[in-house]
Amino acid sequence: MNKRIGILTAFVVVAAFAVAAIAAGNPSIEQGKTLFSSTSLGTNGKSCSVCHPGGKGLEDVAASDEEALEKTVNTCIEKALKGKALASGSPELASMVLYLKTLGTAETK
Ligand code: HEC
Repeated sequence: MNKRIGILTAFVVVAAFAVAAIAAGNPSIEQGKTLFSSTSLGTNGKSCSVCHPGGKGLEDVAASDEEALEKTVNTCIEKALKGKALASGSPELASMVLYLKTLGTAETK
């Protein structure tokens, strides 16, 4: 009897964590790519790709320190897009950094 309740409780806890993880969203290159060309990050109707089409000007960022890169991303969001900086540690910011690191790697070789 008690054992069954224990197993049931464990199952509910695991399920709750799984749902929370899905809701938070795991960072991905795909999400970063979507954000890069999305006007939703700012308030002036621009997206990153307006000024950095195809990753223009960002060929060397793969070599940047991740923390510095997050700051630059947020500077461009605030100054160039007139938007709100993405929270440090958020899946959105992590996705953007993942995507930016894929840029230029093909051209610099
Ligand atoms: C209005 C134009 C504009 C928009 C929109 C814009 N940027 Fe920029 N960005 C610049 C300029 C200008 C620089 C500085 C010059 C350079 O390094 O190319 C820069 C620099 C950067 C750098 C540093 C490049 C380096 O080599 O150090 C990163 C990273 C970057 N932008 C990311 C983004 C991201 C991500 C977005 C969207 C959230 C964005 N930018 C939107 C104009 C823009």
